[in-house]
Amino acid sequence: MRSIAIMNQKGGVGKTTTAVNVSAALAEMGLRVCLIDLDPQAHATLHFGLEPRPDGPSVYDVLCGKVRLAEVRRQVADHLWVVGSHLDLAAAEIELAGVAGREVILRDKLGEDGGQFDYLLIDCPPSLGVLTLNALAAVEEVFIPLQPHFLALHGLGKLLETIDLVARRLNNRLRISGVILCMYDAGTRLAGEVSQDVDDFFRQARGQQTPWAHTTTFQTRIRRNIRLAEAPSFGQSIFQYAPGSNGAEDYRQLAQEILASGADRL
Ligand SMILES: Nc1ncnc2c1ncn2[C@@H]1O[C@H](COP(=O)(O)OP(=O)(O)OP(=O)(O)O)[C@@H](O)[C@H]1O
Ligand SMILES: [Mg+2]
Repeated sequence: MRSIAIMNQKGGVGKTTTAVNVSAALAEMGLRVCLIDLDPQAHATLHFGLEPRPDGPSVYDVLCGKVRLAEVRRQVADHLWVVGSHLDLAAAEIELAGVAGREVILRDKLGEDGGQFDYLLIDCPPSLGVLTLNALAAVEEVFIPLQPHFLALHGLGKLLETIDLVARRLNNRLRISGVILCMYDAGTRLAGEVSQDVDDFFRQARGQQTPWAHTTTFQTRIRRNIRLAEAPSFGQSIFQYAPGSNGAEDYRQLAQEILASGADRL
């Protein structure tokens, strides 16, 4: 199984849109996919048309040790399961503050989970708190969505520092496998310059003993496409909502690239 956290502590860069549509694309290709929504905003949960139920269990109850992942996981399409979130999850940061081993709860829960999946994706919140740490401790790979504007690389240092720390203390298999350029305005000078800066940054890190020594930018750029912004309010992936759109084309192509990049890891 490949396990991937989609993370960037910067808000609104395309994490959820990517997590949802890559999951849907991989499932359409016949792979068994589980998406865990680890953001109290529950955007991925809503995007799949699931109501975050105040009474039903969510990933919050999993992290608090009350239920197993299987009790929360719901099937939303062929080959596709979602572990939903809820606003309650915001309280986890505080409630888990005094709990020993709080960063590895999700990893332990996954370890005891009998679900058989080809891909596990985790949609992270825009922060570097205990929820994101749980994601990083539980997966082998990180994808970083970036929106190519002039502050795109701002904050990347802090993100890398966190990943490095988790890799050294909690999870030595952790590596950043790819950067995904989202909301890409092809043809603008800025987009070209930022992607060049990102490439240069990671090229300089080649060969170093870091979790980003082999990071590359995915060739597929996700173009800005209004259909991608509309789909969540219909509770549908881009392939259900607008299968012929540029957004669907880009995410389908990205999923193929992801699949090819990990052919040896399944
Ligand atoms: N390629 C795109 N074209 C147009 N709109 C997009 C695109 N990707 C994402 N959006 C929209 O931009 C907004 C932010 O995207 P998204 O929610 O995926 O980011 P995020 O990183 O998950 O945000 P947060 O940090 O709040 O979790 C959303 O309204 C989404 O619909
Ligand atoms: Mg999000």
